[in-house]
Amino acid sequence: MKDKWLRDIEYLRVSVTDRCNLRCFYCMPDEGVSKLSHDEILSFEECYKVIKAAVELGIKKVRITGGEPLVRLGIVDFISKIAKLPGLEDIAMTTNGMLLEKYAEDLKKAGLKRLNISLDTLKEEKFYQITRKGDLNQVLRGIELAEKVGLFPIKINTVIMKGINDDEIQDFINLIMQKPYEVRFIELMPMGEAQDIEKERFISNKEVMATIPGLIPMIKSDELGPANYYQLLGAKGKVGFISPMSNHFCKSCNRIRLTADGKLRPCLHSNFEIDIKEAIRNHNKDIKELIRDAILAKPERHYLNEKRESSIRNMNQIGG
Ligand code: GTP
Ligand code: 5AD
Ligand code: SF4
Repeated sequence: MKDKWLRDIEYLRVSVTDRCNLRCFYCMPDEGVSKLSHDEILSFEECYKVIKAAVELGIKKVRITGGEPLVRLGIVDFISKIAKLPGLEDIAMTTNGMLLEKYAEDLKKAGLKRLNISLDTLKEEKFYQITRKGDLNQVLRGIELAEKVGLFPIKINTVIMKGINDDEIQDFINLIMQKPYEVRFIELMPMGEAQDIEKERFISNKEVMATIPGLIPMIKSDELGPANYYQLLGAKGKVGFISPMSNHFCKSCNRIRLTADGKLRPCLHSNFEIDIKEAIRNHNKDIKELIRDAILAKPERHYLNEKRESSIRNMNQIGG
């Protein structure tokens, strides 16, 4: 389906939980955020209804996000149900990787195609400092296993922050020299906890790129999503740059979102939402009609650079 700006909307991001087993300092406060109750979040059956309707309307790609999607019980069965939907071409997940060792094989069997893994450092101690709980080696083992079972391609999302991990750009490049991964450097956006630190920690992808010699640009195709990709001679993987702040990709935006508490969110950075949970539970509105409304309500672009409207939600509730 096309939106008002004639963009093809083919991608639905579904946040299945606001809970997370990590507390990345730029995303969540140390003490966590008030969790939604069981009744507030959509059941898997309700999520499935929305996804099925969306696929019938032309959605071709679904991404499962969180919080951390793997902390929700029953996630593997849910994936296997969605994977069987006729017309759905791509089903992926964004995860912090902490539970991958446990689930990678089952996810592959369930029909998940690929994974994006959030990983901001390759140093054990720093990983613990950034995430306040995580175990880097557990994540690395999970990534290895995901590769082994054929969840491919593996994309690694790395938010670069001044004074935190900008000394590790070369380490991530070394990783793609040896491994067939796609490392994507992401600009920090002023959302959630990052609203307070963005000014001092922001570093543009232009600055990041300037530190990497030998980048060979790859042709941009819609398939490649929001990242601009580059190859490096002799590398097994590639490097991508996602620049929502310095070079936003709204012109080619192809996505809508479903939050864990059942709101359709037309744009990551706009607080406008449509309550689809209420419609499902009261049987008073047509789900497809609401999905169409959400697509038609997509703004032309985000205005984060002009005005900092603070988001009513943290990143953990939207899923990026
Ligand atoms: P692919 O299908 O693999 O390209 O996935 P993706 O890049 O769409 O998803 P992922 O969850 O890996 O998101 C990567 C980064 O892009 C995250 O840091 C998100 O915050 C950011 N991002 C994703 N979608 C949007 C969006 O619609 N707008 C903006 N501004 N940033 C986004
Ligand atoms: N700016 C940019 N990316 C962010 N993410 C979380 N918060 C922010 C932010 N403020 C990223 C995570 C993950 C993805 C879903 O969103 O690192 O890779
Ligand atoms: Fe799309 Fe909004 Fe993200 Fe821009 S900011 S790419 S319009 S969801």
